[in-house]
Amino acid sequence: MTTAATWSAGYVTDTAYARGYYPEQSPVHLALAALLLGVETDLPGPADEVSYLELGCGQGFGATVLAAANPGWRITAIDFNPAHIAAARRGASELGLTNIRFLEADLATLAEDPLLAEIPAADVATLHGLWSWVSPAVRAGIVRLLNARVRAGGLVHVSYNALPGWQSALLLQRLVREAGRRLAHGSVEQARAGLELARELVAAEVPGLAKSEVARETLKRLEKTPPEYNAHEYMNDHWSPCWHAEVAGELAAAKLDYVGSARLLTNFVDLLLTPPQRAIAARFADPLLRELVVDACAEPTLRHDIYIRGTRRLSVGARDTALEAVTLALPVPPEQIAYRVRMPAGQATLSEAFYGPMIQHLAEGPCTVGELLALPGLPDHTHNPGEVVGMLVGSNQALVLARPGAPMNTASRHLNAMTTRRHLRVDTMNQPSAMASPALAGGLPMALAHFYLAERFAAAGGIDADRVDTLRWAREFAPAEAPAEEVEALAKQMQDVLHRHGKLWRWLGIA
Ligand SMILES: C[S@@+](CC[C@H](N)C(=O)[O-])C[C@H]1O[C@@H](n2cnc3c(N)ncnc32)[C@H](O)[C@@H]1O
Repeated sequence: MTTAATWSAGYVTDTAYARGYYPEQSPVHLALAALLLGVETDLPGPADEVSYLELGCGQGFGATVLAAANPGWRITAIDFNPAHIAAARRGASELGLTNIRFLEADLATLAEDPLLAEIPAADVATLHGLWSWVSPAVRAGIVRLLNARVRAGGLVHVSYNALPGWQSALLLQRLVREAGRRLAHGSVEQARAGLELARELVAAEVPGLAKSEVARETLKRLEKTPPEYNAHEYMNDHWSPCWHAEVAGELAAAKLDYVGSARLLTNFVDLLLTPPQRAIAARFADPLLRELVVDACAEPTLRHDIYIRGTRRLSVGARDTALEAVTLALPVPPEQIAYRVRMPAGQATLSEAFYGPMIQHLAEGPCTVGELLALPGLPDHTHNPGEVVGMLVGSNQALVLARPGAPMNTASRHLNAMTTRRHLRVDTMNQPSAMASPALAGGLPMALAHFYLAERFAAAGGIDADRVDTLRWAREFAPAEAPAEEVEALAKQMQDVLHRHGKLWRWLGIA
């Protein structure tokens, strides 16, 4: 056991999990993904109330961003670690949020607990980083809870470490956990010791690690992740990657049907599979067999499955009409758009003749997909709003505005300022976080250093990026002893970021 806590059932509880925002959990994003896949959902309108339930919410940052950006939504977030819930409640009460409730409860038994009656029926439920890290008993409890609390037509997002993607790196996880437990005390130190040994073994060319691309890439990625993330990732008793068919089978008991992936590009099988692989996958009508073949070919290590309680299929016409009404915004200047996107089957290419005019138009300001498709001079191309939304949003080159033109609200402003004040330091500058935005009905992912810039940019009010004195800002931000060249380099970086994101920040009302 990692810790002495008996209530933890083998899950790490001696260190708090890292705060994070994951766009895949956003109700707008999940509804959009379902719509793209031709499944009828209620894409939240600007004034709609959404009841959102998050299971295993950690310190509740993602849920807090949603509550701040959407005062009309009701957010319920659950975790069994009292330290997580205490931190989450403190943040929400400092912000004066009245539309969020954090519950301390064990998901293994919550479905049978009187507390269940206090949880509103959910339009959207999400569990990120939970399913493959907890015991079968907790997973069974989650299924009973979803069965009891997801409304008919409600969406569920489940992320999990997947097989066969993790197959070649099973040794890595086992080694980190077992060696860590024998070499150190406390889950953070244990993960550190286990990872160090794994790195030594890779350097010594131990085949089971050195020959696994997943293991090598994972070790590289974990050099940059916070130590508490590594502890929660590796030191639990019950970590076990899952096959899609098993997860879909377990969730079927809650009347949940598989819809597709919250990673939008993953739903374009043509981009995942080579032509011969595609020909084999296309032979199967059974969705579980087809998904198994796709997973065997593309080998994702983390799946972001979307399920729905009761599938209603949309006609192509109805789907396209709904997609044409979606408003998109360009997150970067047009010259920084990538027309080639790396995918498992090679490269996906966005036709410049088709997408170029749309990108130029979006550079002037947000507009609907219908407006983009009606632009004059577009080459003859299938009129397919699904492809436009899927490719641009899926490659992170467009954002969906749930409330175009909505100004910032007080709660979002306070949350963003609080994040800067509490978490931005010289050593955390590059850490990912997210700013709450009512226009997005969620968070805008950005590095913590960008919070500082966005706030300074907002305070400078309405001027363009070229006229900002970033050297002065860099001097104020950098430590007093920083050499002049470092401060100048920082000022230049700040200028680049403002050019890259300044317009978007203005459109969102962030700056
Ligand atoms: C890897 S963390 C993910 C946190 C958050 N969803 C995120 O992605 O940032 C998993 C969370 O599940 C919680 N958890 C684990 N077992 C649980 C249980 N039996 N009941 C409730 N929460 C649990 C842990 O305390 C932890 O906060």
